[in-house]
Amino acid sequence: MIAERIDGKAFAQSLRERVGRLAAEFACKAGRKAGLAVVLVGEDQASQVYVRSKGKATLEANMASFEHRLPADVSGAELLALVERLNVDPAVDGILVQLPLPGYLDEQAVISAISPDKDVDGFHVINAGRLSVGQTGFVPCTPLGCMMMLTDRLGDLSGLEAVVIGRSNIVGKPMAQLLLDANATVTIAHSRTKNLPDVVRRADIVVAAVGRPEMVRKDWIKPGATVIDVGINRVAAAEEGKTRLVGDVAFDEVSEVAGAITPVPGGVGPMTIAVLLRNTLVAAYRNAGIALAGDDL
Ligand code: GUN
Repeated sequence: MIAERIDGKAFAQSLRERVGRLAAEFACKAGRKAGLAVVLVGEDQASQVYVRSKGKATLEANMASFEHRLPADVSGAELLALVERLNVDPAVDGILVQLPLPGYLDEQAVISAISPDKDVDGFHVINAGRLSVGQTGFVPCTPLGCMMMLTDRLGDLSGLEAVVIGRSNIVGKPMAQLLLDANATVTIAHSRTKNLPDVVRRADIVVAAVGRPEMVRKDWIKPGATVIDVGINRVAAAEEGKTRLVGDVAFDEVSEVAGAITPVPGGVGPMTIAVLLRNTLVAAYRNAGIALAGDDL
């Protein structure tokens, strides 16, 4: 059997189109566009690329994009003052401070300064807490995107065995929480887990989010399992001096046993921006006090 390839790019495109239509409706109803502010500190190459593509995607989805670029030596006080201005700006529904920040800045303090109701990344402790106790809030984009692809493929996840490899605040922990809320039986595995291949072999659903190139092998996978690969690792390519992207899963060999699998690139990655737009639109409807028709976004 060869696994079905879960096309994250197509899935993300279709979500972006839905969000774009509802954002146009929002603009009519509210008399203004939904707005996303993105803050970038410093010159990090990868972050610049992300921020540019987030801005472009925001405009394409019929929303307003506000980009704030601050120098790499900006003071913590200046950054916090900008976040405070965005918190009270009625044109701004969502605020995203691009991470990582330069080392001298306190990331947790900056995230805590964002209004939880504009925290479309879902990184604020209030939103982590809301997710943990089942209250409405914002859920981090990458795990929410993974969840959308899983429910699209599998429908009801009740009683399924899910193994999440990785325990980060941004992916592993919220992913486990979402799976638990969907009534899966959830295991969080990590670098100290004993007999990791044996643990993963139990899983009907595997979510790999560790940042180790091609760590998950064919013999770790129960036949027919659904495998979601969150890893984005740059490794040396066969051709001298070139690099290529690989996930945390050995795609070719795992495809021989899994039921379905997300590729890298083109799997989870494109979903992250699509869900960011979705969260921003939801924030706009909530902030404007307008009901969002249907909750299938
Ligand atoms: N850096 C890499 N991915 C992300 C993300 O999803 N949100 C933020 N704020 N920074 C990031």
